[in-house]
Amino acid sequence: MIMPTQLVPLGNSGLKVPLMGMGTWAWGQKMLWGYGIEYGDKELEEAYQVSLKEGINFFDTAEVYGWGNSESLLGKFMKAAPSHQRPLIASKFAPMLPWRLTGNSLQKALKKSLTRLGMEKLDLYYLHNPKSLRPIKTWVNAIGDAYEEGLIKSVGVSNYDLNQTREAADILAKRNIPLACNQIHYSLLHQSPETSGLIGKCREMGIAIVSYMPLAHGLLTGKYTPENPPKGARGKSYPPHQLARLRPLIELMQEIGSSHGDKTPAQIAVNWNISKGTITLVGAKNGKQALQNIGALGWSLTPEEILQLDKTASGLQDIIKAWWAKV
Ligand SMILES: NC(=O)c1ccc[n+]([C@@H]2O[C@H](COP(=O)([O-])OP(=O)(O)OC[C@H]3O[C@@H](n4cnc5c(N)ncnc54)[C@H](OP(=O)(O)O)[C@@H]3O)[C@@H](O)[C@H]2O)c1
Repeated sequence: MIMPTQLVPLGNSGLKVPLMGMGTWAWGQKMLWGYGIEYGDKELEEAYQVSLKEGINFFDTAEVYGWGNSESLLGKFMKAAPSHQRPLIASKFAPMLPWRLTGNSLQKALKKSLTRLGMEKLDLYYLHNPKSLRPIKTWVNAIGDAYEEGLIKSVGVSNYDLNQTREAADILAKRNIPLACNQIHYSLLHQSPETSGLIGKCREMGIAIVSYMPLAHGLLTGKYTPENPPKGARGKSYPPHQLARLRPLIELMQEIGSSHGDKTPAQIAVNWNISKGTITLVGAKNGKQALQNIGALGWSLTPEEILQLDKTASGLQDIIKAWWAKV
């Protein structure tokens, strides 16, 4: 049984986190997500408050989310809340930005993130992507320096494949720094991290898997149909003929949900990520979405249901690829 307030170790970092974290990519992001048009600060603060109230005290942000807006909004909400409620905050450094040419740029970016968040020390800091004009070791050593200087409590990587994860873990191990986690794209519609063995090998190495996009950008909530496609960039990536292909999976999720006391497809999708042994980050734009997603905790899919879901989703893995080809 996945209890809502259950905490799990984040790899060998010594940090404990809930099985679900709040993803804040859409916080302050207008172009991709419609911030300021479909929702604003009031809705986001509701999502923040609901999460904390329900024990989801782990927030995931990045310097590039809304070019600092997501971190600033989190900083604002934390300042407004009583200090004992301060959640665990993870942010990310973007080595993929072409002007990032020396290890020193990590420390400069980290200090800007801390200022926006109003914090002195981050709970978790990631290297956002292995893609960079500089080799991985430059950034792993720079993040190791930030750890040794006490600016961050734990170190993570994101979007790293197995060889890259091993390389990062080895460099850090030489400095006695544990690599806490690898944050990767993983959902019913993107199962390759499991089939490739990445998840299993990270587990063997004591590196936690933090999975992102468990709702596949909302597709797995069942609300997007050929008649009601998503707006903006998502609409271009997921055309009606692709949305139509999701129907059997959504119907199966609805059927499974009804046998667990009317759980929604979104709750089935999130529960699936957790049942597979990952800590998962779910994005929400308002309190209602946040609350519904938290309903993914407190119960578990059966092994038979997981098998049925895996099988039905296996032929749909190409749908989500269109997104990465366009962004
Ligand atoms: N490391 C990386 O490279 C990376 C990449 C991507 C994401 N992430 C992290 O992972 C987090 C989660 O991923 P994500 O936000 O991209 O995708 P997601 O969690 O799969 O989907 C989130 C979106 O689904 C919709 N939604 C959420 N809950 C819902 C509900 N209960 N009912 C109906 N619709 C709902 C909302 O958008 P609409 O209402 O507009 O549909 C929401 O913004 C991010 O916020 C970010 O922190 C990291």
